[in-house]
Amino acid sequence: MKKIKEFFANLTKKQKISYISIISIAFLLTESILLWAVTDRGMKGLFEWVNYIRTYVYYICAIGFIFPIIAVIIIIISQNMNPARKPLKALMVMAIFSLIIPIGFYGFIGSIPLQRSGDKAPQLLILNGSGANGIPNMAVSFWTKEKSTNSLNWGTTESMGTKMNDPKKSNIHAFLLNDLLPNTTYFYQINDVGQIYNFTTMPDITNTFKFMTTSDPHFGADNANRTATYKILDQLADPANGYQSFFMLGDMVEMGNNDAQYKEACDTFSPVTTHIPFRPIIGNHDVLFGGHQFWVDYFSPDIIEDAPRDYFHIKVNGIHIFVLDLEWGTETYTKAQKEWFEKELNETTDPDDWILVMNHCFYYSSGYLVDGSEWWDQQDMIETFKPVFEEHGIDMVFGGHNHIFEVLENGGIYYNIIGGLGGHPDRYYGGEGMVGQAGTGSIYYSTDIFGFLEVDIQGDTAYLTFKNPENQSVYNYTVNRL
Ligand SMILES: [Fe+2]
Ligand SMILES: [Fe+2]
Repeated sequence: MKKIKEFFANLTKKQKISYISIISIAFLLTESILLWAVTDRGMKGLFEWVNYIRTYVYYICAIGFIFPIIAVIIIIISQNMNPARKPLKALMVMAIFSLIIPIGFYGFIGSIPLQRSGDKAPQLLILNGSGANGIPNMAVSFWTKEKSTNSLNWGTTESMGTKMNDPKKSNIHAFLLNDLLPNTTYFYQINDVGQIYNFTTMPDITNTFKFMTTSDPHFGADNANRTATYKILDQLADPANGYQSFFMLGDMVEMGNNDAQYKEACDTFSPVTTHIPFRPIIGNHDVLFGGHQFWVDYFSPDIIEDAPRDYFHIKVNGIHIFVLDLEWGTETYTKAQKEWFEKELNETTDPDDWILVMNHCFYYSSGYLVDGSEWWDQQDMIETFKPVFEEHGIDMVFGGHNHIFEVLENGGIYYNIIGGLGGHPDRYYGGEGMVGQAGTGSIYYSTDIFGFLEVDIQGDTAYLTFKNPENQSVYNYTVNRL
């Protein structure tokens, strides 16, 4: 301690400030990575669920402590060798070096939203709420790497007639199609050139809606099966199957920070999702390391005031669909989201209504131990939501996250897991060498399978059919509205 005091006593005020401030800033910035890991929306779940990520973060934090210790050692050694030689180049070099980790880290994280891979193909997005005629508003949205002004012409005939223009040059382009009429075919064209797209809105019959839902394509993952994804999209596009909408329940990409994966996803979906109203829902992989900005720009364009944010409520012919932002578990169930959900349920629903909940992660599920975490029944999810679901008469819940097909019934509510859009299937939880268990209330479970779930609500009965990519039924059941 005496040697350190002597060292600083011999420095000018400017030298003291530079040594102390650089080392302190490097230390605090490095330690703040832990704070970032437990608070960032894309990281906190990863930190909680994946052992090796936690270990990496702890290592980085440990390195933060090493530099001040090295500084003390350098000072003591230098005082012993030659107390008169000041200032010390070695100490300054080390102090600057200690800034490399936090500056490099935050520089990388901060630059992710700027790393765009190119234009993103158009999508016909379902918006929140309900339009004037019992079905939701929609938006045609796309993203261009260069700022530009674009236009959309749309209408109920091939000559269209309603023209909208971007108000100013922008990367994000979103054109609101509001107050749509039910059971009506609309046409639209971008910039008055090329393809004229068309889509048909949902029918005008109370408690009637037929949609496809599936999850977890994981674009960018080496072990994903893209053939399965294409086959499923073919089924979605086939008019004979009569799908009125498509809900994709998350993990669209493998790494949320990789915009090329988002580009591949948009390019793959677009030929179908410009014709079938599309609603993607956030998964844990989609927001990794700053990926949330990509998600917002491509699927929740904030230039449309009414566009869905991370959680929202869609109404179709009196059927309520609550989309929640639950990526790994309750980590993303913020106070604001909880208050919104409970208020919305209280004020807009009746337990007799069809009420559906969609989000990425599972509540009940069969599964196994992954990276030290139990991927089966999530107790905190169950404790948080079961009483709310039962009180308000939720009928069906849809999610992915586990790459399986499963139906679990608990308290009269049907929980469906449809992780079949191309991400590598999970293994059987009861297989050799596996540590896992069956989910509570499981009535159907299958793995090593790709596919989708067809949900056909007709009045008081919903017909649910799990299908493989060839459109063959592998399991079906019915739910009666309570
Ligand atoms: Fe997944
Ligand atoms: Fe997931």
